[in-house]
Amino acid sequence: MAKDRHHKIAVIGGDGTGPEVVREGLKVLEAASKKFGFKYSKTMLDYGGERYLKTGKIISDKEVKDLKKHDVIYLGAVGHPEVRPGILEQGLLLKIRFGLDQYINLRPVRLYNSAFCPIKDKKPEDIDFVVVRENSEGLYKGMGKFIKKGTKNETAVQISHNTRKGVERCIRYAFDYCRKRNKGKKLTLCGKTNVLTYAWDLWQRTFDEVKKDYPDIQTGYAHVDAITMWFVKNPEWFDCIVTDNMFGDIITDLGAMIQGGMGIAAGGNINPQGVSMFEPIGGSAPKYTGKSVINPLAAICALAMLLENVGEAEAGRAVENSVIKAVSTELKSLAAGKMGYSTQEVGDLIVKFL
Ligand code: IPM
Ligand code: MN
Repeated sequence: MAKDRHHKIAVIGGDGTGPEVVREGLKVLEAASKKFGFKYSKTMLDYGGERYLKTGKIISDKEVKDLKKHDVIYLGAVGHPEVRPGILEQGLLLKIRFGLDQYINLRPVRLYNSAFCPIKDKKPEDIDFVVVRENSEGLYKGMGKFIKKGTKNETAVQISHNTRKGVERCIRYAFDYCRKRNKGKKLTLCGKTNVLTYAWDLWQRTFDEVKKDYPDIQTGYAHVDAITMWFVKNPEWFDCIVTDNMFGDIITDLGAMIQGGMGIAAGGNINPQGVSMFEPIGGSAPKYTGKSVINPLAAICALAMLLENVGEAEAGRAVENSVIKAVSTELKSLAAGKMGYSTQEVGDLIVKFL
C-alpha cells in the first residue's frame, strides 16, 4: 500500500476486450482522483497475446520484478484465440500471481439489482458474500508428470500441492477479512474432506486450529459440490467462504452468474505485504473484441477494489456506489451487447454518477 497519496499503477490491458474495459476503468480513475484529491501515475504495459505473437516473449523474470516498483497492478484479461490455451495463462497471469506471491484471490459476490439475478425472488440482501480463494498452491502449482506419454498405457498425474504455511496464511487472512467485514461474521470452509483425504485433512485441521483465535467468528463447512447447490438454493446463508485454488476458481464463476454475470464480477490477487493485482474475473471475450459492446463494470468494480487497496477506501466506495446506481437505474442488462449503452457510454455513466 502506498504511504502517500500518489499511487503508482502498472496497467496491463492484456488480450481481447481487456484493453477496452481497462480504458473505461482508467477514465473512472481519473475522475476519482480529481474528486478525492489523490494523485497517480500509470505505466502502460503491453504484455499479452499480441506481443507474444510478435516477439515470442510473454513476461520475463525481470519484468515481473519490475512490477514490484509499483503500488498496485490493474489487469484487463489474459487469453488470445491464436495462442494455445495455457501458454499465456501460465506464462503471464500465473507467473505474476506466483512471482509476486499474491496468495489470496478475493472475490466478492454481490447482487446489485434483483432484475439481473437468474435465481427467482433473490434480492440484493440475499446475495452478498465473499470468496477467499487460495491463490498460490493446490492444483495450480503445475506439479505432475506423464508416464508413457502417447502410448495406450499412458498415465497423467496432476498433483494438488498444499503446504501448512500456505493453507494457514490463507485461512488466517479469511478470518481477519471476515472480522473486518463485520457483516455476518461467519466463515465457511469449502472443501472435499470426504474424498480428498490428504489435502482436505490438512485444510480442516488448520481451519480448526486457527478458528480458536477467532471466537467472535462463527464457522461452518460445506463440500464443494454441495456449495454449488447452496449458491443457487440459499445464497443468503453465506458471508465469507475460504477454499483452495481450484475449487475457488470454479465456485466463483457460479458466484459471478448469481450476481449478474461476468459483466460485473471483479476480484483481487492480493499479497497483503506486497503488490496486489485487480482484474475483472471474466475472460478476454475475443468475439466481442473491438465492438464496444463489452460491459466494463467488472473492470470498474476491480478498480474500486484497487482504490481501497491503495488506501483510497472512500473513493473505492464512491465508485462502487456509482456502479450500483448505474445498475439499478440505467442498464437494461449486464450482458455484452444488451446493456442499452456502449462500453464507453457505461464508463461515462459511472463518471457522471461519481
Ligand atoms: C481466473 C481464471 C484463471 C484461473 C485462468 C485464466 C488461468 O479462470 O482468474 O479465474 O484459472 O485462475
Ligand atoms: Mn476462473
